[in-house]
Order: sequence, then structure tokens, then C-alpha cells
Amino acid sequence: MRNEIRIARKKIFVNDDSSSVETSFAHGTGYKPAMRDIFSWTSKGWNALRMCRKKSCMNSAPPNDPYVRYVHSIEELVSTPMRDGINALCLKRSLEGDFAEVIRHLRVERGITTLDRAELLALPVSEAGKIAIQTMLRDQEQLQEYGLDAEIDCVNGYIGHDQQGLMRTDVCSFHIDRATDVADTYLCTYAGASSIGVCHEDVIPRAQIPAVRKALLEDFGGADDESFLEYLTENFYDLHYEALPDARMFSFGVGHLWRIAVDYPGNPVTPCIHRAPDPIEGEPPRLILIGWVSRTSDALRLVTDSRM
Ligand SMILES: [Fe+2]
Repeated sequence: MRNEIRIARKKIFVNDDSSSVETSFAHGTGYKPAMRDIFSWTSKGWNALRMCRKKSCMNSAPPNDPYVRYVHSIEELVSTPMRDGINALCLKRSLEGDFAEVIRHLRVERGITTLDRAELLALPVSEAGKIAIQTMLRDQEQLQEYGLDAEIDCVNGYIGHDQQGLMRTDVCSFHIDRATDVADTYLCTYAGASSIGVCHEDVIPRAQIPAVRKALLEDFGGADDESFLEYLTENFYDLHYEALPDARMFSFGVGHLWRIAVDYPGNPVTPCIHRAPDPIEGEPPRLILIGWVSRTSDALRLVTDSRM
């Protein structure tokens, strides 16, 4: 039996057998990357930062990134420890099947719809569509065999995406996932735009941009002290990042299965900073697989997030 917990926009499932361990997942972390002293930046520097999305270097091919390691099987993907700076593992694949046809047969509302096995198998698709469905279900089953859980989601835009508060904290903002226990995030894009990663050396915490911090401090109503840091954490403000000009970015690509590092106490590696692709009005929905796993003593627990 699983209990469902919602924390902000997060949906979390915790197995009963590990209920004694506090579990939560969130966007972001208290992680502080080594970086230049951002408060010494000139206005020219901040203007450059505002332009960073246009100037950043995007690599659409599977990245030749020092923090990414490629593996050759799901078993290797699941079992390889992340260390020595590696914070993302990728199983490169070229998948067969017509995933776009599957999308065309789905009837989904705006937002994120989790697809179940029976629903997918009932779709009146061609042989190519059936191959796509079997591929997704096989991925899901293989991860389950390793004690993981994963959802197949159809992402048809985001609800409330345009309603930003004091600071941008949506899934299309660069962020890291956070857990209170050992965990990883698994991701695969089957169709549509894929997630984007960025080198952790090429970002700054958004909450440390002076204008943003000033607004947050005004909302907090206190001093920039430990209590304010708690306020940032409680509101997920400490989890989001802004890419610097010429930031090294990469696409997660289509078909590849990823396991990325999240922030949790004692994680030996830097969490992988990533974001969902920006939704484009009129574009077909995306098909993705996403899952989180947490290993605690003998128990494996899954925590599910908001579909990056
Ligand atoms: Fe995420």
C-alpha cells in the first residue's frame, strides 16, 4: 500500500514499510555551488545575465559532458554509483515505434496525465504504435524489477505555468530535485521536446540575484539571516537557478534513459541541474517516463515529482 503526500506541486508516494522515515521531494536544494561572488557583479554583468537564455550554448546531441557517464544497460544504469563528480548517467538508445501516433490517439486534458497500462494497450494504434507502447511498458516493467517505480506521462502543457509569484519556480526553470533521503531521478522522453541540463558551474541561485533577493526579503519581512534561509527552503526558492551567459547546456534527447543525481543529505555528488522544456502553444503533447527511487536500509521507496 502506498500513501500519497502532496508537498507544493509534488506528489509523493511512500511505501508503508518505510513510513518511519521522513520523506519529501522538492525542486531544489540548499546546495551552494562554487561560484564567483555574484554580489560584486556590475550592472553590465546582470544585463548580460538577462540575455543568457539567448546566448547560452546548447548542445542538442548527447552531451560530451564531464559530469555525464554513459552506460550500456538498464542494470548498469541502476547499479552504477555516482561519484567523482559524475551526477548523471545516460543509457543512449534509438527506439523503434511510432510514439507520435500514440499521442494522436490519446485524449488528455491540459496538464499532466499519467497513463496506465490498460489504457495504453487499448489504444487503436498501428503496429508501429504498438511497438512504441510496448517499449514504454517494458521500460516501466524493467525499472519495477529493480524495485523502482516509474510513471508514463503525457504532458500537455502546464496548468498555472504563467502564474509566477515573487520568483520563478516552475518546472521549466533550471532546478534540482531534493529528497530527505538517498534518491535518484529517472527520466526518458519518448516524444516531443526533452529536458535540458546545464553545467552546475554555469549557474547561480536565482534567489541570490539582488533584485530577486530584495523582493523575497520584503515578502519575508525580516533580516537576511538563518530564518530567511528557512523561508527560502520552505518556499522552494533555494532550489532554482539562473543560467549564466554562455552556460553550457545539453538536451537530454529523445529515447535515452537518464538517471540524475538529486540533492539529499550526504550526497557525495553535486545534484544535476535540469529543467523541462518550455511548452509551445499548438505543439503536440510530450510522452515521458519519470520516476524517483530512494534506498533506505533494506527498503526501496519511490518518490514522484512533477515530470521534468
Ligand atoms: Fe526536476
